[in-house]
Amino acid sequence: MNVWAVANQKGGVGKTTTVVSLAGELARQGERVLVVDLDPHASLTSYLGLDPETTDDGVYALFRQAAGESTPSPHVRPGQAEGLDLLPASPALAVLDRTLGTRKGMGVVLQKGLASLGQGYDHVLLDCPPMLGILMVNALAACDRLVIPVQTEFLALHGLRRMLRTLEMIGRSRDRAPEYIIVPTQFDRRTRAATQSLYTLRDEFHPHIWTQYIPVDTRFREASRQGRALTCSDPASRGAQAYASLARHLLSLENTPQEELAS
Ligand SMILES: Nc1ncnc2c1ncn2[C@@H]1O[C@H](COP(=O)(O)OP(=O)(O)OP(=O)(O)O)[C@@H](O)[C@H]1O
Ligand SMILES: [Mg+2]
Repeated sequence: MNVWAVANQKGGVGKTTTVVSLAGELARQGERVLVVDLDPHASLTSYLGLDPETTDDGVYALFRQAAGESTPSPHVRPGQAEGLDLLPASPALAVLDRTLGTRKGMGVVLQKGLASLGQGYDHVLLDCPPMLGILMVNALAACDRLVIPVQTEFLALHGLRRMLRTLEMIGRSRDRAPEYIIVPTQFDRRTRAATQSLYTLRDEFHPHIWTQYIPVDTRFREASRQGRALTCSDPASRGAQAYASLARHLLSLENTPQEELAS
């Protein structure tokens, strides 16, 4: 089982789109995929067709159970849109930082939960909220690899540096920080500003940056309106092709021994 977290403290950079597109692509290839919605706004949960007001038995239940509270058992909703299995979010997740944030052991709840809930899956993808808190800390502790989508615009670079400082800080309190890969998103090759940002990203963050990019493609919005992954509804589109290529790259990293990557 590979666990990939998709995170960036900046909002609207394409985290949920990346989770749905990658997960859809992997499922299309016959891989068994679980997606986990860690965002109190529950965009991924709604995207895949569930009403977040009815999903307190997802991630929220996992944390309440770990805190010893009486709660329904957390369970995965099988076969949501594109056949993806989902551990859903609910708005109640917003109170976790206040109610459980300082309790001991709360940083590894997801890691422990996935040991059972993640059984039988080839891939688990975690959709993180755009802020640092107990949910993102849990995702960083549970993942083998972190995917950081970054918009190809100048201001996005500040958000990225902040995200990397967070990662470093969390890495210091663990044996190891997860490997990370930066994915340029919403790239509009017609604008000079986007091209310049892409070059700056490549200069500053080599070798952690994916050498390709996800283009701006209006079909992502259309796919989300339909509750579909673009990689499934229109695999030939530019956006879908880019995510298929990213999926291939991520899989190749998982299949390459660490020693080889280091040499
Ligand atoms: N490559 C793209 N081309 C065009 N539109 C895109 C692209 N990627 C994402 N979008 C659109 O941008 C918006 C934000 O994307 P998304 O919800 O994936 O970001 P997010 O990082 O998850 O946001 P949040 O921080 O609020 O959770 C959505 O409307 C989505 O359809
Ligand atoms: Mg999101």
